Amino acid sequence: MAKVKDFLSVLGTEEYISTSRISERLGVSRDNVRKNIMRIRSYGYNVETKRGRGYRLLERPDRLYPWEIEAYLTSRRIGRRLIYKESLASTNTYAYELARRGLEEGTCVIAEKQTAGKGRLERSWFSPEGKNIYISILLRPHISLSKINMLPFACSLSVAELVEKASNIRPSLKWPNDVMIGGKKLCGILLEISSLKEMVNFAIVGIGLNVNMGEDDLPPTIRGIATSLYMETGVKYDRAKICGVLINTFEKYYEIFLKDDLYLIRSLWEEKAQIRGKWVTLSDGTGLITGLCDGLDIDGALLIITETGTRKIYAGDLRN
Ligand code: BTN
Repeated sequence: MAKVKDFLSVLGTEEYISTSRISERLGVSRDNVRKNIMRIRSYGYNVETKRGRGYRLLERPDRLYPWEIEAYLTSRRIGRRLIYKESLASTNTYAYELARRGLEEGTCVIAEKQTAGKGRLERSWFSPEGKNIYISILLRPHISLSKINMLPFACSLSVAELVEKASNIRPSLKWPNDVMIGGKKLCGILLEISSLKEMVNFAIVGIGLNVNMGEDDLPPTIRGIATSLYMETGVKYDRAKICGVLINTFEKYYEIFLKDDLYLIRSLWEEKAQIRGKWVTLSDGTGLITGLCDGLDIDGALLIITETGTRKIYAGDLRN
């Protein structure tokens, strides 16, 4: 059975194509062609009809439909299955449920908006519709629990690489997993895991990347601390392309992670974060810790040399 993707692939943007030509090319009836043109229009594609000439595609909707993302995928295992929803409470929560039901590694859950997007430390993640990317990647690495905390660092490296490729801006990284531009947050990453004994059963890596939202979209609570690619460059981005390239780039770093090259991930991350040797202040929920940063431990903890000795911090917020 011909899919939406097949119909879109035969529609030109300049030349018209007739119903009978489409029916011949896709091996479907003329009636089926008409039905599918209606279906494509219902997805928001602007298909023009001209009597006696046929159809042509005038405009694609700004939507993260799987077939739009697939056009950019070169990955082998990540993103082979894309699950798309207009709205979800949280792509992470949804992906977690799918993982419990046994869905395969590499499955990605993508939503246009989240009604209860989750951030680190029980915070919420601002997720307006149709502007940004909210994606959760289901992974099943056969590794011990002690290694999994380096996975979000690999992920933040992949986001940084993507951002640099797409916009020419060099983002910086902030512990633990934020991708920043000019001191403002562009992307957050949330890792959720399920374990069996000391092994990882599955992991969900949730990425919230601010792409096309503008200053006016931001609620006052995050104005001045959040940014987007659009806010930084004045350019609107093709979100499907950004999402496809993000998946490809993530796979590259995931492979480094799986090869057990945690030291490489750590050194790449430290280089981009430029935090080693700096004075830092961090809140860990119980109070403020100030000291000299000694970089990242191989389990993802931040090492801080304080007056009372070196502290290993697993969760918290950097103040500077
Ligand atoms: C952070 O606090 O920095 C982490 C934010 C992670 C947000 C993403 S958006 C996609 C995925 N689904 C969620 O509910 N959260 C993550």
